[in-house]
Amino acid sequence: MTNLTSRMNRVQSPIIPIVGQLIKDNPGTISLGQGVVYYPPPPEAIEGISQFLNQPHNHQYKSVQGIRPLITEIVTKLQKDNDININKSRSIMVTAGANMAFMNAILAISHAGDEIILHTPYYFNHEMAIIMANCHPILVNTDDNYQLSLDKLKAAITSKTRAIVTISPNNPTGVVYAESSLREVNQLCREKGIYHISDEAYEYFTYDGIKHFSPGSIIESDTYTISLYSLSKAYGFASWRIGYMVIPNHLLEAVKKIQDTILICPPVISQYAALNALKIGKNYCQQHLQEINQVREIFLHHLQELEDIVTLVPSEGAFYFFLKINTDMNDFELVKNLITNYKIAVLPGSTFGMRKGCYLRIAYGALQKETATTGIERLVQGLKHLINPV
Ligand SMILES: Cc1ncc(COP(=O)(O)O)c(C=O)c1O
Repeated sequence: MTNLTSRMNRVQSPIIPIVGQLIKDNPGTISLGQGVVYYPPPPEAIEGISQFLNQPHNHQYKSVQGIRPLITEIVTKLQKDNDININKSRSIMVTAGANMAFMNAILAISHAGDEIILHTPYYFNHEMAIIMANCHPILVNTDDNYQLSLDKLKAAITSKTRAIVTISPNNPTGVVYAESSLREVNQLCREKGIYHISDEAYEYFTYDGIKHFSPGSIIESDTYTISLYSLSKAYGFASWRIGYMVIPNHLLEAVKKIQDTILICPPVISQYAALNALKIGKNYCQQHLQEINQVREIFLHHLQELEDIVTLVPSEGAFYFFLKINTDMNDFELVKNLITNYKIAVLPGSTFGMRKGCYLRIAYGALQKETATTGIERLVQGLKHLINPV
């Protein structure tokens, strides 16, 4: 069978391996592509491995929902950091990362053909997950500053809408939504009887005194708010594959069925590491954030040189800038050109659903100052040479 046709034909190919191959083919390229942090997990997390190994039964399957001590630690963290109270109407599910948590959520709340509202630019794995579930991503544009627009959201809701997704701090734009906007979205979901899926993978990554807000903390939002978290960024845990979700109790059975089928249980060795990481807490991330913020400042400084050809909106979160390039060049051609000729890699905006115009996402979490400075200098030089303003 050579002509494979399946639901996957409609799903875009993940961009990271494509850009990764271009980077490999062009040795010496600095990557501002992948959204990872430069630092490793806390040493205490690694010590969790010996605690895991001390008990031979740990090599067997464990609870589909996650090991009890980790869930207990998550309850404390949610109360302390997010003001989310795990009462009788809510449950926690440990997952193999926030991506899996999102897939669990979509499968649990939808029938084939249902609609899920995303904001453009969107996080590509969200769009991919919705299509894989045979649902329709309904794309609602953000405004010129990539902020939410309640009127557009209201207009997009139909009888088939099952959820509105927000990501704050945002990938790919780096913007942080105001608490008032998130409250409005949450209220809208309540009124319309749909879910609010709040992806908070970057909860600790905010700058300039901006505060993160968790919609799950809104009183009586527990029956329709699904909150997603990840250790990948905060604790340098990307390969350990641990995240978790807070769900209304009525979704627990459905989410258990999904996770039992796809994963059986989140990797137990990683859960031991995660337990120790959460005991260390958010200070671990915050202490590294200073360095990421310095890189951010360097980038902002250099990007000023591109004023004539680049529009940059204020963004105080995650570790991304989303640049609008004033050109009619194709974004992927531009990315290829930047890698081949200037040895600097970024991601094309079309991957994030921005098909009109030329946009680039740059990620600044993975590099330390020296490499980051060389990287942004290359990008600025490359864009100056390649772009003729239209
Ligand atoms: C918004 C958002 N959600 C989820 C993820 C994936 O997180 P995890 O590694 O926990 O699956 C990412 C990774 O880049 C992300 O940007």
